[in-house]
Amino acid sequence: MIKVNNLRKSFNNTVVLKDISFEVAEGEVVAIIGPSGSGKSTLLRCLNFLEEPDAGMIQIGDMTVDATKTRKSEINRIRKQTSMVFQHYNLFKNKTALENVTHSLIVTKKMKKEKADEIGRDLLKQVGMDHKVDSYPIKLSGGQQQRVGIARALAVYPHALLFDEPTSSLDPEWVGEVLRVISGIANREKTMIIVTHEMAFARDIADKIVFMADGVIVEEGRPEDVFDHPKNKRTKQFLKDYHKQIGAISQEGELFSVKT
Ligand SMILES: Nc1ncnc2c1ncn2[C@@H]1O[C@H](COP(=O)(O)OP(=O)(O)O)[C@@H](O)[C@H]1O
Ligand SMILES: [Mg+2]
Repeated sequence: MIKVNNLRKSFNNTVVLKDISFEVAEGEVVAIIGPSGSGKSTLLRCLNFLEEPDAGMIQIGDMTVDATKTRKSEINRIRKQTSMVFQHYNLFKNKTALENVTHSLIVTKKMKKEKADEIGRDLLKQVGMDHKVDSYPIKLSGGQQQRVGIARALAVYPHALLFDEPTSSLDPEWVGEVLRVISGIANREKTMIIVTHEMAFARDIADKIVFMADGVIVEEGRPEDVFDHPKNKRTKQFLKDYHKQIGAISQEGELFSVKT
């Protein structure tokens, strides 16, 4: 379970998160959507203190911190509650797929290599990467690298998984396989927050949609309510722009296929 109360964050004099409060129940999947620059990544990064919030309460699992008076030991403990899957994979280039997954188990959890390898192989199998355990990232497609990134995030057995646009730097051909892996994890009742531009995916996978703009939560609710009956005019405009853009892309696709 994740609970955020009155979270605020500024960079220099720019307020990026204005007064964010929301909850993710145990096993719930929340998708955060919204225009670029609205503070979605900053929000995820504040949850694991990659960015230090200016104010607010954050509860993840049984750990609660007050952002204005955190101690280093508390930050370390709350960081261990979540794992993040990044847009740009951030794999270690000089480590194999398996070593990428087992690194935190061996270094942080002080696990024996044999045991870590066993867990790592099992996780790579879960994301359909058991045939590439010994490959280095450079030999893997974007989709394969991201699947290794997901196995790595699962390795520490976090209370919750945080995904920051996990498919937006992938070539279109690799998006589906990564979304399928994420859906598979969501179906296992893992608590997750996913920032995504893939609206059909968000609708399909999420129990709750949160629409953010300009550092505030404008609207939240069940996918069918937010997508089919948005209440706020900014949500309506965002979805309209999105559908226009998707329409343009599919038309281009058709033109392309006619030409070739
Ligand atoms: N480290 C930083 N320093 C200064 N400004 C930042 C930093 N990170 C993000 N911002 C600014 O905060 C705003 C929100 O960014 P971000 O959280 O990345 O939005 P989103 O993920 O919704 O696109 C943007 O205006 C961005 O330029
Ligand atoms: Mg972002």
